[in-house]
Amino acid sequence: MKKDLLGIADLTPFEISMILDLAESTKSISERTIKKVPTLRGRTVVNLFFEPSTRTRLSFEVAQKRLSADTVNFSVSGSSISKGETLVDTAKNLAAMSPNVIVIRHSVAGYPHRLAKIMDASIVNAGDGFHEHPTQALLDLMTIRERKPKIEGLKVAIVGDIARSRVAGSNILCLTKMGVEVTVMGPSSMLPLHVRRLGVNVAPNLKEAIIGKDVVMLLRIQAERDAAPRFPSPREYNRYFGLKMEHIKYLKSDCIIMHPGPINRGVEIDPEIADGPLSVILDQVANGVAVRMAVLLLLLGGRSIYEISD
Ligand code: CP
Repeated sequence: MKKDLLGIADLTPFEISMILDLAESTKSISERTIKKVPTLRGRTVVNLFFEPSTRTRLSFEVAQKRLSADTVNFSVSGSSISKGETLVDTAKNLAAMSPNVIVIRHSVAGYPHRLAKIMDASIVNAGDGFHEHPTQALLDLMTIRERKPKIEGLKVAIVGDIARSRVAGSNILCLTKMGVEVTVMGPSSMLPLHVRRLGVNVAPNLKEAIIGKDVVMLLRIQAERDAAPRFPSPREYNRYFGLKMEHIKYLKSDCIIMHPGPINRGVEIDPEIADGPLSVILDQVANGVAVRMAVLLLLLGGRSIYEISD
């Protein structure tokens, strides 16, 4: 694996499969009574989150602790960034403390790539603006792979704010690389300008998007990315684009429902579906820990299954 994990764009199908194969092994660590192995003892990982996060931040931290790495959580509000220090200067000061990995989430697309050029530490992109969220796409594919052993030829619908979602960006790249047929659907104001150039189908409405699909993935409206709203109201969004119980009859009986979180219940997905038997939303969260453990191991060179057994 390369020095950094900046995006799915940089990964080959072989590398994606390698990460997921290792994640199957790291998942078993979380199922043990003692959920800890010494593999990354003496390694330092800094978590640098400039945007809110629940799942990604916590699962990276859990992954680091389960591998015995020293975890440092950088708090932007208590840092010298609030006194005007730039991100690059902050990074140079971090580099002077010799961390092994920096996990970064930032609202500016491309910031992790900029850090990767100036730092010896491995950089992991935990979400950069509307661009990429590679570990989310990997954990999503791991969750699909657990339910659908043959990935190539699967049909996946992604519904919602496609244009501003880094989850959509990374998932479209990841799924199409693995031979999945991807269909997107959302308000025209939330679709990228040249959406078909991404190698996806575009469905005209929710029914057409979900019918016959193996996986339906819902996305929330990324309102924080623009000052101007792209849709009149959450209620109207739910009417045309929200997955509701009345849609269940169009789904394949073995279809799985995914959502990266945070969920806006009653907007993009109704609670009965989010909590229902087709939902794998909490499996996605559990797999987030396994995938992030695998990524850390591969970046730090501890890829052997032998090395993660205690
Ligand atoms: N899926 C995801 O990125 O969630 P958080 O924003 O809570 O990390």
